Amino acid sequence: MSPVTYQVPLPSRETAFQPAPVELAVVVPTFNERDNLEELYQRVAVALDGIGWEMLVVDDNSPDGTAELAWELGHRWHNFRCIKRVGRRGLSSAVIEGMLATNAPYVAVIDGDLQHDEAALPQLLAKVKAGADIAVGTRYSGEGSTGEGFSAVRAWGSRTATKLSSFIAGQKLSDPMSGFFAARRDLILAVAPHLSSEGFKILLDLVITATRRGTPPAVAEVPYTFRPRHAGESKMSPLVALQFGGLWLSKLSGGVLPTSFLLFSLVGFSGIAVHLTTLWLFFDVLKTDFILAQLVATVIAMTWNFFLNNVLTYADRKLRGWKVLRGLFAFYAACSIGALANVSVAALIYQYEQVPLLAGLAGALMSSVFNYSVTRVFTWR
Ligand code: GDD
Ligand code: MN
Repeated sequence: MSPVTYQVPLPSRETAFQPAPVELAVVVPTFNERDNLEELYQRVAVALDGIGWEMLVVDDNSPDGTAELAWELGHRWHNFRCIKRVGRRGLSSAVIEGMLATNAPYVAVIDGDLQHDEAALPQLLAKVKAGADIAVGTRYSGEGSTGEGFSAVRAWGSRTATKLSSFIAGQKLSDPMSGFFAARRDLILAVAPHLSSEGFKILLDLVITATRRGTPPAVAEVPYTFRPRHAGESKMSPLVALQFGGLWLSKLSGGVLPTSFLLFSLVGFSGIAVHLTTLWLFFDVLKTDFILAQLVATVIAMTWNFFLNNVLTYADRKLRGWKVLRGLFAFYAACSIGALANVSVAALIYQYEQVPLLAGLAGALMSSVFNYSVTRVFTWR
């Protein structure tokens, strides 16, 4: 990391406190966006000229020193602040924390990589001031477009996700996955305690949660063109897409099944495939003893499950360094007890109902709930 070389002039009495009341807080979630911060601030300053505004960067302890640079810049620009979170990761929760850290009556979110068109900010603000609860920057209606920086696969994924999301949200949104929108701070305050905090798509969660609580939000839209990223790398990945799938299912279940449980179960299913493949490899191909094959398959499947859960289910509290090893053994221990629970429950049910499939399923369900609960407390706390 190269040292930050900004000269910091001390503010005079006149410039230290700006008289203009802050009407709009622009929240910028960041992870490794150091090289975009200055440009972003300057563009937004031009776009919001004449409006009382502040920028709130919410950084998740980026290794590239985003927060440190933001603090330096905060000396230069009175309306530029940074919240640095440590030990946590997550786009949605970062956005919510930023929105709750201002007393501006209106809040907006914009990505830190200049993909969103800041020139739409005044229109977004105007729409919420005119009575909309949320005003969304949309890539899919009117003049809006995804620009040129979108691969065919991602464009297709984005459209499919859009259709499914509108269905869950209970109203037609042309771009429910948008990370660019403005809202009344009141609305955020009211729904914040009921949001998921998991996941990547805060707008969708806001709309669904407000709707479920009996106050479907009035949503306005402002088209814009999605630009290619300015500097750095995207954090969107197949893993993030899977996490999003989990969030949907969780919402469909009315929040009864947590996203992490659904992801944990999904990992469990993939583990069965790994187990059977290993078993086949050892028993059928390598012609080992069955018990040995089963033992190896069990250990490999558990190890597979552990690492997949670590990056997918618990990405927000991923174990690193030596904690990985400790976590792995805690996971083995939990799964072994889970297996005992599985067999006991299956045997018990089989005593009363001689239906092997039913007994087997009950046992499997028992052990997955057990493994999930225990590893949540002891492995990924
Ligand atoms: N604090 C914090 N914590 N910020 C994060 C995290 C995190 O864990 N992950 C990503 N960010 C920040 C990035 O630094 C960037 O400013 C913004 O969130 C969006 O992340 P990108 O990695 O640039 O996402 P993208 O370009 O793939 O996704 C875009 O398209 C989505 C729609 O498909 C974004 O515009 C999303 O907001 C949008 O929902
Ligand atoms: Mn981006």
